[in-house]
Amino acid sequence: MSFQTEIINWYLQNKRDLPWRNTRDSYVIWLSEIILQQTRVEQGLPYFNRFLEAFPTVTAFASATETQILKLWQGLGYYSRGRNMLLTAKQISDKHNGVFPIHYEELILLKGVGDYTAAAISSFSADEMKPVLDGNVFRVLSRFFGISTPINSTRGKKEFIMLARELIVAQKPSIYNQAIMEFGALQCKPRSPNCLVCPLQSGCYALSHGLVDALPVKEKKLKKRIRYFNYFLCFSEQHILVHQRTGADIWQEMYDLPLLETENNYQDNLIGFRNQVNNEYGSAVKLTHLEQKKHLLTHQTIYVDFFALDNYIVNFNQNADVKWVSLAEFEQLPQPKVIANFIEKYFSNQV
Ligand code: ADE
Ligand code: SF4
Repeated sequence: MSFQTEIINWYLQNKRDLPWRNTRDSYVIWLSEIILQQTRVEQGLPYFNRFLEAFPTVTAFASATETQILKLWQGLGYYSRGRNMLLTAKQISDKHNGVFPIHYEELILLKGVGDYTAAAISSFSADEMKPVLDGNVFRVLSRFFGISTPINSTRGKKEFIMLARELIVAQKPSIYNQAIMEFGALQCKPRSPNCLVCPLQSGCYALSHGLVDALPVKEKKLKKRIRYFNYFLCFSEQHILVHQRTGADIWQEMYDLPLLETENNYQDNLIGFRNQVNNEYGSAVKLTHLEQKKHLLTHQTIYVDFFALDNYIVNFNQNADVKWVSLAEFEQLPQPKVIANFIEKYFSNQV
């Protein structure tokens, strides 16, 4: 049996019943694919269900506010995905009469839709002959065919796409693409795949050459940027001082707390840090350290320190992007996960 037939047979017997597999609606498939970018299926599934319930059509999605989207998105990370979805939905609602595209060439023009996503949506919804290449597919192909070209290099991407295009010919794209991704997710897993029960074991290059753990090969990436965020909790009469993030940085348009970003950990230059806090909040301000958290993003590691402030003065002229909101109001605002977790924990300890 061919590689493709083995994969498809395996899929028909082992696939998970996932809601986006029972539809040809390209809007619904788009919703699932954007949520599942960088998100595991188990984590993404409840978000997918909540989004689909709130917005059953792309037109309904287009009429949402950014705050609504960010709130539903809260906890998924990569918040630009949520914002781009709203822009895309509006574009489709306005310019395509609310008809979500199904062809690769149209899909690739949408914001937030790259080669993988356009191939996934067009093959799943219209059976277009476009192979998907995600992490799962790279892994399966590199192991079975013994390809050691780095999957994140230009040369590697070309080599894998050529192979993937040959393999999909004569297959039903919607099934074959789902099948190879699912095979990578459940059988040919990143670590310790159970090759002894694999239907592809007899033809697998990596297995016969002892290279299962060595493939796929990835080129080393740049080092992560390290940042230090010091957050101040000003709490008074059931209201907290919040800050809306503006500018081109992480967590754009979301709400956090008044922030002082420093070059190093605040403890490395305690006097300088105190001076900055005094300048901002008055010389009588009292500072109590509450908690430190390490927050990992794809390209950044953020050390987050939380402080309670007392006897502070807030200069609203210099700080136009801070305001007082009630705790109940704050809960309704889109927040970075690290902030939401802190606030929830802090105020549940207070009662
Ligand atoms: N991850 C990304 N897209 C997926 C899909 N369609 N099914 C399962 N996992 C996925
Ligand atoms: Fe993957 Fe092992 Fe199967 Fe080869 S034999 S395809 S490495 S699970």
